[in-house]
Amino acid sequence: MTKKLAVFASGNGSNFQVIAEQFPVEFVFSDHHDAYVLERAQNLDVASYAFELKEFDNKAAYEKALVDLLDEHQIDLVCLAGYMKIVSQTLLSAYEGKIINIHPAYLPEFPGAHGIEDAWRAGVSESGVTIHWVDSGVDTGQIIQQVRVPRLPDDTIETFEARIHEAEYKLYPKVLRELGVKEK
Ligand code: GRF
Repeated sequence: MTKKLAVFASGNGSNFQVIAEQFPVEFVFSDHHDAYVLERAQNLDVASYAFELKEFDNKAAYEKALVDLLDEHQIDLVCLAGYMKIVSQTLLSAYEGKIINIHPAYLPEFPGAHGIEDAWRAGVSESGVTIHWVDSGVDTGQIIQQVRVPRLPDDTIETFEARIHEAEYKLYPKVLRELGVKEK
C-alpha cells in the first residue's frame, strides 16, 4: 500500500509541483487563498484546500481543522514545502513523526525564514538543502538528508538561489522514494 501524501505550501509551490509530477498527492493545503500553489494544483488536477489562520479564533482551532482534514484523507505523510507557519502543538501531537520539511540551507546552518539570503549575506562558499522531520522548534528536527550546494565566484543572489532550488527539486523526490513513497 502506498503512503498517502499531503503537501502544505504558502506561496509559489514549485516544490509541490515537482512532487506532484512524480508522486500521487492526495491534496495540497495552503494557508493563503491567493497562493499560486493553488493554481498549480488545479493545473495538475490535485485537490486543494485553503484557509487562513485569521479565520479561526486561535492557532489551536486552525490546526484542529488541519488535523481533521488529514484524518479525513487518512494521510500518512505531510510534506511541508514552503509552508511559512510554525507547526504547533495541536498538529504535532496528532502527526509528529509524519511531517517533513524542506529547508533551503544546510542545517543547522541558517535556520529560519531566510535561509538563502542569510547564507548569501554571510558570504559562505557553500550552502545547501536539508530535509528534516518536523518538531516544535524552527528547523530543528532530526535531519533525514541534506546536500551541499556551492556558491560560485560569479554568482548573483539570483543564480545562487536558482542553484539551491534545483537541488531542492532533486532532493525532495529522492527522500520520498527512500521513505517508501511509490511514484505515479
Ligand atoms: C523553498 O526554498 C523551501 O525550501 C522553503 O520555501 C521555498 C518554497 O518554494 N521552505 P516553493 O513554494 O516550493 O516554490
